[in-house]
Amino acid sequence: MTEVDHFENVEQDPEQHSWWQRAAVYQVYPRSFRDGNSDGLGDLRGVIEGLPYLASLGVDAIWLSPFYPSPQKDAGYDVSDPRAVDPMFGTIEDFAELVQQAHERGLRVIVDIVPNHVSASHPWFLEALDSPPGSLQRRRFHFLDGRGANGELPPNNWESIFGGAAWTRVKEADGTWGQWYLHLFDSTQPDLNWDNDEVRADALNTLKFWLDLGVDGFRVDVALGLAKDMTYPDLIDPIGMSQSLRFDLDPASQEAMDRRAGLANSALFDRDEVHDIYREWRSLLNSYGSDKMAVVEAWVPPERASQYVSRDTLHQIFGFDFLVVPWDATVMRAVIERAIEAVATVGAPPTWALSNHDSPRVVTRLGDGADGLNGLARARALALVAHALPGSVYVYQGEELGLSDVQIPDSARQDPVWFRSAGEQKGRDGGRVPLPWFGTEPPYGFTDRFDATLWLPQPEGWAKSTVEAEDIDPFSTLNLYRASLALRHSHPGLSSGDVVFLDTGDPCVLAFQRGADVVVVANTSSEWITAPAIGLVLLASGPIETGQSGLRIGPDTTVWLQT
Ligand code: BGC
Repeated sequence: MTEVDHFENVEQDPEQHSWWQRAAVYQVYPRSFRDGNSDGLGDLRGVIEGLPYLASLGVDAIWLSPFYPSPQKDAGYDVSDPRAVDPMFGTIEDFAELVQQAHERGLRVIVDIVPNHVSASHPWFLEALDSPPGSLQRRRFHFLDGRGANGELPPNNWESIFGGAAWTRVKEADGTWGQWYLHLFDSTQPDLNWDNDEVRADALNTLKFWLDLGVDGFRVDVALGLAKDMTYPDLIDPIGMSQSLRFDLDPASQEAMDRRAGLANSALFDRDEVHDIYREWRSLLNSYGSDKMAVVEAWVPPERASQYVSRDTLHQIFGFDFLVVPWDATVMRAVIERAIEAVATVGAPPTWALSNHDSPRVVTRLGDGADGLNGLARARALALVAHALPGSVYVYQGEELGLSDVQIPDSARQDPVWFRSAGEQKGRDGGRVPLPWFGTEPPYGFTDRFDATLWLPQPEGWAKSTVEAEDIDPFSTLNLYRASLALRHSHPGLSSGDVVFLDTGDPCVLAFQRGADVVVVANTSSEWITAPAIGLVLLASGPIETGQSGLRIGPDTTVWLQT
């Protein structure tokens, strides 16, 4: 049996029928997924142990956030060797075993690639520090002389996305202050110079390295940022530009659209020439077969999205609108229509993500009650909207358990965003806490080392949210996800066909038809409503009842109906 025989639905038309056109992809954040070697930190052996669980969830693929050697200044997104495994996460043999076991269970494996920057402890950066201005070693990065009489001012006014200036000055070999280097993120994450052929060739080597180990795809970090305006112009609104990547606005609002529009072909982001890089990558991926893929992280305006996913560039672009969409039927409809249209012209699938390691958990974001109840109901309802849409869905670990963000004491915070903003922004730690597997108190089966201090503290009160507890609760979020992901595959109405919106006349009701006979109704109000369609209930995220006037749908609830 060849490896590919482990997968269902593998067809040969690379553009329309590849697995990634309609996959459910589970994001594993390795340090917080599961500890397999009893040191208190999540690792690759923990991921291997968790594979049966992921298979039982019904996802098609896993995406692993970085597990590469790193000083961990940005939780692994500061990579010092992109072609190895950090010993804290295991070995390359563990990785190979993970791929093999995942494949045996029908799960594809996507790994993160971080091409925009490296760690300040990457050998290239150490060499650059030891080399003079203008040297080959420095030209792999963006080293510039400063402004001012003695070069004491940064080369321009660019701001780091994590706060503060995007430039840091170095001491030269003679001990005097010297040039500045660019870092769009933390000062420990120097940006690579993609105008440099060596940088391009090295990334291709990284892709090959993991492809040769059998990976099925890549998640491309900061994919919109690689190409820069090499004249390094001052920006009119440098803070606004760096904040544009952090969307906390209603995505349909004018302000959000203006911010995103400002990114298009700007000095720092989404430059037209970035696609030359992805064309090279696409050729390489194609040479490994038609079912290898890459998904790009690129917050770009809808009219720019298709360039990343056309036939000669990459395959998917993350749809981030559901990370920020308000619980409002009218806005949701607009956002869905826009997202589908944005990629339809190039035949790429839309993608939907309710949460990830950079955003608040969806239960917290949508919750407006102190007990989080509305948040949970709405998150479940939003999941059933997303899972019924065409394209791929990305599920961030713990989302399927309905977890909310954890209140992290300031003294325990780890995110560079917290440090670089001098505490003004709390950062992303609340959604990165180690997963609860079983038991009634920390560490909830995450590790069997009971005296371990976890990198972020788990809360009391997660006993009902463990995998073990939710597994046996028929109404749990885990079992809702299992049911929706299974139906998504098995029900013909959900696996094909356009989205046709139904006008219900009620601004609190989102309703659309998929395929010939499935109708999805989301009640975003806090009142019961009567379903605008008649049919057999396939799945409901919340309370429903049959009344004299037909099916009644409870507050903050989505229902899938077979009509
Ligand atoms: C990743 C973040 C990371 C940043 C810098 C983002 O896109 O998702 O977690 O901090 O890139 O690498």
